[in-house]
Amino acid sequence: MDTADFFEIHRFASVDSTNEAVKRAAAAGAPEGWLAVADEQTAGKGRRGRSWASPPGESLYFSFLLKPDLAPALLPQVTIVAGLAVANAIRRELQLPALIKWPNDIVIGGKKVCGILTEAFSCGGGTAVVVGIGINVNTAAFPKELQDRATSLFLERSGSGNAAPVDRDALLMAVLAAYAEGYARFMEEGSLARIREAYEALMVSLGKQVRIEDPAGAYTAVCRGIGADGAMRIALPDGTEQMVSSGEISVRGLYGYV
Ligand code: BTN
Repeated sequence: MDTADFFEIHRFASVDSTNEAVKRAAAAGAPEGWLAVADEQTAGKGRRGRSWASPPGESLYFSFLLKPDLAPALLPQVTIVAGLAVANAIRRELQLPALIKWPNDIVIGGKKVCGILTEAFSCGGGTAVVVGIGINVNTAAFPKELQDRATSLFLERSGSGNAAPVDRDALLMAVLAAYAEGYARFMEEGSLARIREAYEALMVSLGKQVRIEDPAGAYTAVCRGIGADGAMRIALPDGTEQMVSSGEISVRGLYGYV
């Protein structure tokens, strides 16, 4: 799949949320691959109803439209493809050791550098998906309360001796190329089977103890990877294996954010 053919890029100086810009475009008939990238978001949205701070001039905020011909239950898997694409793009473009905190936070050195908000919505009688990606690119400092959990590519790169700002456009193109590659593999089989191994190789929790924060009660288990549907495979203390779907469940390392 050719990146330039698949994505149709629309640039905004300021927008409420690039996810909302994509949904509006979809309602007006935009095709698959329609992409909004903004310098600033005035109402950036995070997962679980949180907001996503989106000041101008420093980071990447973009969203794109997908209309995969798949059962609605399979649609959340496109978010796994997005997590892998961002981690790979950061590794290839900037040689930084990006890892994935399941399902799709990207972390470097145990701190979050990217969040992804995927939303399915009704569109033209079917279901469409918007994948929204926020990457902390050239943020030079985070508020005190976030400093132990959040980082930027600039901070990570300057920690290894390169204090030049990161080129946001080059990074966007690298993410889109990686996404187009992963999405084509995903769509060939309608499952994550062909990208699962690559995803697992970058999972920050693989083989480690994690705390599963289930509304019905928290428990610990060992992360064994993901299933072909993107759910996390865990081993309970008695050795039995279970699958955990993202939904309302959050997974943490035993000590701290990852
Ligand atoms: C998270 O909570 O980790 C997800 C954050 C997703 C933020 C991105 S920024 C671009 C797109 N537009 C939004 O309003 N949210 C997503």
